Order: sequence, then structure tokens, then C-alpha cells
Amino acid sequence: MEFTVAITGASGSIYAQRTLQHMAASGVVERINLILSDAALTVARVELGVDLTAGERRSINQWLGLPIDSRLIHLHRLDNIAAKPSSGSHPQQGMVIVPCSMGTLGAIASGAGTNLIHRAADVTLKEGRLLVLVPRETPYNAIHLENMLRLSRAGAHIIPASPGFYHRPQSIDDLVDHFVFRILDHLGVPHSQATAWRGAETARDMVRVSEE
Ligand SMILES: Cc1cc2nc3c(=O)[nH]c(=O)nc-3n(C[C@H](O)[C@H](O)[C@H](O)COP(=O)(O)O)c2cc1C
Repeated sequence: MEFTVAITGASGSIYAQRTLQHMAASGVVERINLILSDAALTVARVELGVDLTAGERRSINQWLGLPIDSRLIHLHRLDNIAAKPSSGSHPQQGMVIVPCSMGTLGAIASGAGTNLIHRAADVTLKEGRLLVLVPRETPYNAIHLENMLRLSRAGAHIIPASPGFYHRPQSIDDLVDHFVFRILDHLGVPHSQATAWRGAETARDMVRVSEE
């Protein structure tokens, strides 16, 4: 499998890190085209204390805990609109933007993109491939919501960065991983954990059973 992964400047760099790590661990993803926006570099520094500005595969591999010479990740410059993900003729399964800023969301929704992330997302949609967007902002204004609706209607999977709590996370890693597994479910990338809700009784039913 081959995917493009884009990281933009919304809060939640850790979602990107864990998505890439789980993709690498899946054993089925052979190539990842990675694109980082300038704002993503700033947010990663603020949130994770990492400096990815060198823009080298080695520093990305180090960040992800991959062997330093791993060739899984192919880094593309944001302004390289001639890179492989910019063309529909380059075969790949799909693309995920995690986290996705409102700026990038708006650029894709308008169809007036200006960088490789916008172009690759546009191409993914026009080729009818999987486009997963993980928007993050709070609160959402009407423009954000309309852009998400527009993109959903165009075929994108909108998976807002809103982790669930029904699996009773014990740590931030638990919380993040459970959410990242949902992203992988949508991309069709296998992972180690079942995320499917197995069903439960309603609270009223539970009370009734305990009274009996
Ligand atoms: C620490 C930090 C956190 C941010 N969080 C968000 C966010 O959650 N959502 C968002 O849309 N923008 C957020 N921004 C603003 C974006 O980074 C900014 O709009 C940027 O221009 C987006 O550019 P990009 O889409 O090219 O990454 C944040 C910025 C910083 C510095």
C-alpha cells in the first residue's frame, strides 16, 4: 500500500506521529509520501518539542523511532508541485491530512490550492481515491462547517480530532492511539486493536439487571 500523509498546523501533532508510526508497524504500507506545512513545523515544536525543520528523512525517521536508514518515508517539499502525489497518474491508495488546519481545509474546499498538500488532496478527490481529513479547531464557525460539508459531499472522510472515552483510556497514548486506529480503519490499514463497538446495555437496563 502507498499513501500520502500531510501534516498541517492545527493542534494535534501527536496524531500525525502516531498515525505514521502505526502505518509503519502495519507491515502492509510500503511507501509514505510525507508533506509538512510550515505551520506544522511550528506546532510540532510547540507541542512535542521536536525540530523537523531540517526536512530530512533521517530526522523524520528519528522522530518516529524508525531505523535511521528506513526508506518507508519519502519527504516532499511543500512547494514541489511536481512531486509524485501531485499527479493522478501516480498510483496510491489515498491520502490523510492529520491534523488538518482550517486554512488547509478551506483551500481544498475552494479548489484554489496553492501548495503540494492542497494539490495532492485535490488530485485524490478527482481520482476518486480515499481522502481522510482530520480537522481540528474549536469552536467551528459556519465557514469551517460549510467547508467540511462541501468536502464530505465531494467524497472526503471527515474524522474530526474528537477522541472517544468509551474505551476508558488510561493515558494520553491510549486516547491518541484509539483515535488513530479509527483513522487507519478508514484508510483500510490493519492495526493491532479492535475498535469496533461490541455493544452494551443501556444504563437503564444495567440498573434493572442489578436490581433483580
Ligand atoms: C500552537 C498552534 C496551534 C494551532 N492550532 C490550530 C488548530 O487547532 N486549528 C487550526 O485550524 N489552526 C491552528 N493554528 C493556526 C494554523 O497553524 C495557521 O492557520 C496556519 O496558517 C495553517 O497553515 P497550514 O494549513 O498551511 O498548516 C495553530 C497555530 C499554532 C501556532
